[in-house]
Amino acid sequence: MSTAEHAGKVYWVSGASGALGGAVARHLAEHGAQVVASARSVNSEQFAGTPNVHVLPLDVTDAHAVDEAARTIVSRHGRLDGVVASTNVAAFGDFLDLADDDWSRVIEAKLLGTVRLVRAALPTLIEQRSGSIVVISGRGGIAPPPQHFPGASINAALDLLVQGLGRRYGQFGVRTNAVAPGPIRSPRYDELEKADLGDKKGADSYAQVALGHPGEPRDVADAVAYLLSDAARFVNGSRLAVDGGGPGYAS
Ligand SMILES: NC(=O)c1ccc[n+]([C@@H]2O[C@H](COP(=O)([O-])OP(=O)(O)OC[C@H]3O[C@@H](n4cnc5c(N)ncnc54)[C@H](OP(=O)(O)O)[C@@H]3O)[C@@H](O)[C@H]2O)c1
Repeated sequence: MSTAEHAGKVYWVSGASGALGGAVARHLAEHGAQVVASARSVNSEQFAGTPNVHVLPLDVTDAHAVDEAARTIVSRHGRLDGVVASTNVAAFGDFLDLADDDWSRVIEAKLLGTVRLVRAALPTLIEQRSGSIVVISGRGGIAPPPQHFPGASINAALDLLVQGLGRRYGQFGVRTNAVAPGPIRSPRYDELEKADLGDKKGADSYAQVALGHPGEPRDVADAVAYLLSDAARFVNGSRLAVDGGGPGYAS
């Protein structure tokens, strides 16, 4: 992808203090975009050495704050070309050990966190008659690891939401797509692998990748950058697996 591909674009990346959101924010900025990087704990040191990343502390469980953030971004930058939703909290463990609160935290951070972000950004994208939304879901949405049912269930819900958004808002020039990573080398994935189910039959391990190794955050960043770009102008409502090949619908 050429540097010019994203030059002058304004993107909002939520979950930018995390492994994947951080890699996406850096990649887009390095390719010429102005990037608003949001998360609760985000700070400028995380992007030291990468120009054009503007940090915006934000808790996506606060709908009012998310709406306010969208207004701030548009008033500061004059436009918004794309949004990337990459938030989640860890809730790993056996189904019988996970309480309502574990499920609620994931629903708040990932499902509703994505809904709020998209809802806040959409009016601007519709008004501009152009824009691209990318939601990070995950392979668990079609092949749920036993210790990851909350996140996996929400990934499936987000894949469906993306289809719906693509169909509903495509007519306004707004494309919506999902990137569904498999195992990506990251603190979050190490935590998932360590989640002990007692009978040791839990892990959706690095070994379950046809290419024989985990992905890297930049593999996800490349896929997101593609979906945001004009090269993906006819891609809408889709789910792009970035998982090296592995368990799919039939497994
Ligand atoms: N890593 C993998 O192998 C993998 C595989 C498949 C799917 N995924 C999915 O990819 C996405 C990113 O994964 P990751 O590895 O980058 O995870 P991560 O490092 O744990 O990052 C999660 C991000 O979510 C943010 N977040 C959580 N709660 C928030 C809240 N209430 N408000 C605002 N931000 C919030 C965190 O920032 P703060 O804590 O600073 O708020 C952090 O930036 C997740 O949806 C994950 O399920 C990851």
